[in-house]
Amino acid sequence: MPPSSSNAIGVFDSGVGGLTVVRALMERLPFENIVYFGDTARVPYGVKSVETISHFTTQITEFLLQQNVKLLIIACNTMAAVASQVVRDLSPVPVLDVIDAGALGAIAATQQKYVGVIGTPTTINSNAYARAIHQRAPDIRVFSQACPLFVPLVEEGWLDHQVTRLTAQEYLKPVLAQNIDTLVLGCTHYPLLKPLLQEAAGSKIQLVDSAESMAEQTAGLLEKMGLANPQRSAPDYHFYVTDVPLRFQTIGERFLGRTLYNVRVVKW
Ligand code: DGL
Repeated sequence: MPPSSSNAIGVFDSGVGGLTVVRALMERLPFENIVYFGDTARVPYGVKSVETISHFTTQITEFLLQQNVKLLIIACNTMAAVASQVVRDLSPVPVLDVIDAGALGAIAATQQKYVGVIGTPTTINSNAYARAIHQRAPDIRVFSQACPLFVPLVEEGWLDHQVTRLTAQEYLKPVLAQNIDTLVLGCTHYPLLKPLLQEAAGSKIQLVDSAESMAEQTAGLLEKMGLANPQRSAPDYHFYVTDVPLRFQTIGERFLGRTLYNVRVVKW
């Protein structure tokens, strides 16, 4: 049976970070129901192997498909980088991923065709952003840098902290040396560092927030497929996590910019 337009959008991530994508979706598509899954018991994924990430991704995809979602969004850059095919092979509903969205955002933004990408070690080692950009624009030069310390710094709430500022300066040095004009924030956590990263990169460099690009792409796809929810009542939001929700709730509210309700624990 084809999905109904009133069904929820399924969004998933390794933990709390994908809430930056949920936030962008809530702002861009305020009438869409959303079911979110954060694998808080097994986060972080950014330093795990492709095999392990693919296994976890399969479980999450199956869970969300059982909730009858009309669309799946891979909000985690690391999962999108190494396991998006796993999701596409399993899913009868359309699948969008943040890497594709970020790549499209970068192609639209760059003038000089020199793009920097920052992300977790697994995302950067996979070269997925460069592939996604080169598929559509082979003449763009892509320079990547893994920034493993950013995820814990953001979760610590050090969004405007000297330690984070120095860390950013250090990480960005090699990509800035390549005269990039665009920098892709290739990790769920990095949109929270936008002001600090803009300061470290300089005002001439355009930051591409893959969460915002994803919300734009989602709106376009729902419209095209006739799956946009026509109802104009307040939507339902449900959040599933795999570990006690306390930390998810505290940190999540910062990511989401609003109070988190309806958080439930899934035991596997
Ligand atoms: N969600 C991950 C990403 O966007 C960051 C957190 C993790 O390493 O699991 O790459």
